[in-house]
Amino acid sequence: MRVSRNKMAPVKSFYLTTPIYYVNDAPHIGHAYTTVAGDVLTRWHRQRGESVWFLTGTDEHGQKVMRTAEQNNVAPQAWVDRLVADAWKPNWSALNIANDDFIRTTEPRHTERVQKFLQSLKDSGHIYAGKYEGPYCVGCEEFKLPGDLIDADGEKLCPIHSKPVELVNENNWFFKLSAFTQALLDHYKNNPEACQPESARNEVISFLEGGVSDLSISRSTFDWGIPVPWDTDQVVYVWFDALLNYATAVGLTDDPNSEGGKKFAQTWPADVHLVGKDILRFHAVIWPAMLMAAGLDIPRKVFAHGWLLVGGEKMSKSKLTGIAPSDITDHFGVDAFRYYFLRAIPFGSDGSFSWEDMSARYTSELANDFGNLASRLAAMIEKYCGGLIPAPHRDDVLAQALETTVDKADKAMVALDFQGGIVAAMDFCKKVNGYVTEKEPWILAKDPANKVELEEVLYNTAESLRALAVLLHPVMPATTEILWQSLGAQSSLGAIGDQKLSQIATWGQLPQGAIVTKTPVLFPRLEIKE
Ligand code: MSP
Repeated sequence: MRVSRNKMAPVKSFYLTTPIYYVNDAPHIGHAYTTVAGDVLTRWHRQRGESVWFLTGTDEHGQKVMRTAEQNNVAPQAWVDRLVADAWKPNWSALNIANDDFIRTTEPRHTERVQKFLQSLKDSGHIYAGKYEGPYCVGCEEFKLPGDLIDADGEKLCPIHSKPVELVNENNWFFKLSAFTQALLDHYKNNPEACQPESARNEVISFLEGGVSDLSISRSTFDWGIPVPWDTDQVVYVWFDALLNYATAVGLTDDPNSEGGKKFAQTWPADVHLVGKDILRFHAVIWPAMLMAAGLDIPRKVFAHGWLLVGGEKMSKSKLTGIAPSDITDHFGVDAFRYYFLRAIPFGSDGSFSWEDMSARYTSELANDFGNLASRLAAMIEKYCGGLIPAPHRDDVLAQALETTVDKADKAMVALDFQGGIVAAMDFCKKVNGYVTEKEPWILAKDPANKVELEEVLYNTAESLRALAVLLHPVMPATTEILWQSLGAQSSLGAIGDQKLSQIATWGQLPQGAIVTKTPVLFPRLEIKE
C-alpha cells in the first residue's frame, strides 16, 4: 500500500518578506511603500484562505550604524535598541502593518544561525582567505566596482549617495560567488517568475552575463557585527549577515525535528522577497548563490519595485528628502496613505509623490466615490427602511459585474499588480454609484407604491458595499472595518478579516433585518493645508 507523505506534511505557508531596513534611518515613506505593499499582499493571501507568514525587521550591524552610535555617544546595542523601540516598531503599528514576526540582526536567534550557516559553507569549501582592495560605500555598505562610481573633479563618488567612497585594503574571507554565475543565469532564463518585473530580470541577466567576481564576506577593521566563527578578529560583512535574516527568522540550520526546523520546512523557500530596485542585485545574485552553496531551495520570486521620487531623484534620508509617513497620515489618514501609493504608481515603476495628486485622488476616489456611497446608503436605509437591511434581492447586472471584479482583482493582486487590483474594485464602486444614480431611490421613496422596488435598490447597494468592504479590506483595513460594522455585517457574517475572497461574489449574504448604523464619515473633507 502506498502511503502519501503529503497527508502528513503541514501546508507550506505563503512566505513574504520586506527588506530589513537600516535601523539608523528615520522611517520614511519609501520604506513604508515596500512594507505597506507587503502588508496588503499578505492580507490578500490570508483572505484567500492561505496560511501566511509575513516578516519585516531591522538591519543593525555595519560601519554606518557603529559610526552613528559613536557620534551620539551611545553604545551600538543601546543605540539600535532605542531606534527599534522608539521609531521602527511604532511606525509599523501606526500604519496598521500586520507582520507575523520582526527580526533584528542583533538577536541571538539570528547571530547564532548566521554563524552556523557560515561555518557550514566554510566546511563545504565555499569560503577562502583572500585580500580585498577597492572602493567601499559606507552608505550602501557595498564594495563598489570602479566602473560604478561617478567622477567629481577627480574624486570618486557613490552614484546613489553622491558621497566619496572609502578605500578598503584588508585580508578578508571570500565567498565563491563566481561559481554560481551559470546556475543563476540558467535559473533566471528558465524561470521568468523568479525575478520581476521584466526590467529587473533583464538587468540581473545582463549583470550575470557580464561576469561576477567572488565576494568579500568579512571585515577586519571594526567590530560591530557577527564574529566569523573560526576567525573572531573579523566580523561578517553586513549584507551577508542581513540577507540571511529571511532564513534565520524561520529556523535556518535548526534540527528538522525542533520547533525551528519545523517552521523552516513550513515556510522555506520564501514566496516573495519584496525589495526596492536599489537592492536587486544583492537579492537576485548574492542571496540565491549563498543558498545554492548550502544546498537550499532558492526564493520563488524577487520583486523589485520602483522608487518614490522627490524632485526627480530617489527620496532618501541622506539627501534630506525623506518624508515621514506621519507627515502624510496626519493629513489624509492611514488608510488613504496605504491606498494612494499602490493605486497611483504601477508597482515596478518609479513614481513622484505630489500633495496635489494625493488630494485629488483622495477627494474623487475615496471621499466621493467610496465614502459618500457608504454614507448615502446608511442614511437612506435609516430613512426609508427603519435602519434595517431589507429583504434580499439580486440585480443580475451588478452581481455579474461583481463576479468579474473579484476575478480580475485576484489575478492582479497575486501578480503584485496592486494598481490593477485596486482599480478593479474602484471601477465596481463607480458602477454601483451609477446604479444608484440611475435608480434614484430618493424619487422612488416619494410614492409608497414603489416600496418593493426601493427596497430592492437599497438591498443591492448594501450588498455591493458588503463586497467592496471585503475587497478593499487588505488595502484599507480600518475604514472597511467601520463600513462592515455600519452594515450590521459583523453579527451575521462574522469578522471582516475572516471573509474569504472566493465567497465575495456570492450574492445575498446580508440578512434581512441586519441593523444598519450611520457610517461615521469614512474619508472626511480635507483641511486646507497652508
Ligand atoms: N538594510 C538594507 C536591506 C537589507 S535586506 C536583507 C537596506 N536598507 S534601507 O533602509 O536602505 O532600505 C532599502 C529599501 O527601502 C529599498 O529597497 C526599498 O524597499 C525601500 N526604499 C527606500 N527608499 C525608497 C524610495 N525612495 N522609494 C521606494 N522605496 C524605497 O537597503
